[in-house]
Amino acid sequence: MITAGSSHDQVVVLGTAAAFGHYCSSSINSTSVGASDLVPDGYLWQFSSPDTSSPTLLLGQNERGTLYGAFAYILELAQGNDPIKSASNTTTIASGATRHVSNPAAPVWWVNQWDNLDGSIERGYGGRSLFFAGGKVVADLRRAAAYARILASVGINAVVVNNVNADAALVHTPANIEGLGRIADAFRPFGVRIGVSLNFAAPQSVGGLQTYDPLDASVVAFWDDVTAQLYKRIPDLAGFLVKGDSEGQPGPRKYGRSLAAGANLFARALRKHSSAAADSPGILMYRAFVYDQLQESNWKADRANAAVSYFAPLDGQFDDNVVVQVKYGPIDFQVREPASPLFGHLQKTNAAIELQVTQEYLGQQCHLVYLPPLWRTVLDFDMGKTSGKASLVRDIVTGTHFSRPLGGSAGVVNAGTSDTWLGSHMSQANLYAYGRMAWDPSGGDDDNDAATPRHIIEAWTRLTFGGSPAVVDTIADMALASWPAYENYTGNLGMQTLTDILYTHFGPNPASQDGNGWGQWTRADKNGMGMDRTVRNGTGFAGQYVGAEVAARFESVDTTPQDLLLWFHHVPYTQPLPGPRPGENTTVIQHIYDAHYAGAETAASFVTRWAALNARNALNVDAERYASIARKLAFQAGHALVWRDAVCAFFDGLSGIADRHGRVGHH
Ligand code: GCU
Repeated sequence: MITAGSSHDQVVVLGTAAAFGHYCSSSINSTSVGASDLVPDGYLWQFSSPDTSSPTLLLGQNERGTLYGAFAYILELAQGNDPIKSASNTTTIASGATRHVSNPAAPVWWVNQWDNLDGSIERGYGGRSLFFAGGKVVADLRRAAAYARILASVGINAVVVNNVNADAALVHTPANIEGLGRIADAFRPFGVRIGVSLNFAAPQSVGGLQTYDPLDASVVAFWDDVTAQLYKRIPDLAGFLVKGDSEGQPGPRKYGRSLAAGANLFARALRKHSSAAADSPGILMYRAFVYDQLQESNWKADRANAAVSYFAPLDGQFDDNVVVQVKYGPIDFQVREPASPLFGHLQKTNAAIELQVTQEYLGQQCHLVYLPPLWRTVLDFDMGKTSGKASLVRDIVTGTHFSRPLGGSAGVVNAGTSDTWLGSHMSQANLYAYGRMAWDPSGGDDDNDAATPRHIIEAWTRLTFGGSPAVVDTIADMALASWPAYENYTGNLGMQTLTDILYTHFGPNPASQDGNGWGQWTRADKNGMGMDRTVRNGTGFAGQYVGAEVAARFESVDTTPQDLLLWFHHVPYTQPLPGPRPGENTTVIQHIYDAHYAGAETAASFVTRWAALNARNALNVDAERYASIARKLAFQAGHALVWRDAVCAFFDGLSGIADRHGRVGHH
């Protein structure tokens, strides 16, 4: 237990609730501590009433909770806030003290890193791996430890250190197991446990066995042995992450085994090692991102159908320490997707939502795209009535809706050796926000709630650039305008991001969407576009929503929200749409042109808004960071023009319909 403070009335007592009860019961009434309100990793702040001289208490349910409570307290002080005033959910207790209790909404709030053993990071835009180089774990893990501190400060409790497209060698050599142990040692002081991605075929590819059939006894023994070795070196191992039978990765289906049989293989190996150090059994995160990337394109085929068709029939067959990790949308981190219908089907299975902090399809850290408003569309999505009540995704993934013991979220972060960790200063806001929203995914409804996207970006800005209202308002306004702008100048109306699908996922390439096996099709032709996902006439995807009213809403053009129109329907370019102002009419093609121009205009405004702050000398920011952000915003403004012109020219050429305002096309 640590005490600090220069005078008695500023004393802060910091520790676990149990230690506090043990050491301080004589001097401070420990029965008032309220530890029973805390769940593992939760914390409380208790402020004494002004007329007593009791210290402020910062108490965690466990040591991790103490650390989170301390970080949260410091983050308030650093914003110039009085924690007692900024604390939400406070109650006044018998002694007149005020208590603020904060508990994580679910047990899993993890980060995934897609790091390869050679030091590259798949879809990473912030430099090389913090963990690996040249096939092994790096010797100097000081920077990794600093990353652990960042993760703890935003409230993350575990990190999976290697790519989901996992290298089997990682868990095979004693040197690598020792290396993973050293990573765990670097993260442990910050309460962040590590997890490892596994390659399903390892028993065969590195283990010398004839098979990797999950029901084969030698395969079970192989994984038991790997798991035992890992626990021997890392007694608090968080668990494993497995991607199987997807995008060419090996999996249980090769042997005709179900995905549940595949997941349970690892879950059972983990279960044998529950230990006090781990404080809960290791968790097997099994990815729902399973699809065939060589699918033949026909009217009824649809990659979006894959997750439900594979996983829904298996509901109830996964062991209790399995969590199915579901990407937020049915395709792949697109600029807009409806929430994955799989969330509604996992009623007897633990589920977590997978979000992407690294901006793979969203500008790869060269574009300012503040992601919480996108995440909120999914977390607040209602799957329709199940068990007689609304089924919000956020309540499903915390486990509360279907009474599941586990659940939560996984954020693909891909931080690296870059000075900015992620590759740009502004993208840090997304990591900060991910931590806040993973701890408390509820914050979308009430504008006064500290977890709304606006409050989160305002807090981040104060912490990063100081509290000048001009700075806070400008950055918050830019951030909140950024995702809608990106959607406008890339792919609006639910048509997907229209980026280069085949290789880079960067920059415009609308022609690359169709005519290949990847299944991110738009079905754009000379008359119209959009995927017909209706049950009546299309792929049937709309019918995958468990709530009949949700399925019915998406089945009809008239009731589908405009921003998902082309996700669910194939319509002519001349399809009428309500215009931007009441009483105005537009068409799909005109909307495409207008949105692309509007989005590019917003991106251009970021440059001048940022420069105006500098002119007013309002920024508490050094010249290097100012210039770096200015450069990124200038690139974004230019690239938004490239996007606008490429997409508009593509649809103009395809449809032969000129822009009503004469900006596009010469017909
Ligand atoms: C995307 C991404 C891949 C990644 C995959 C996954 O398709 O482009 O790099 O491996 O998602 O999430 O497994």
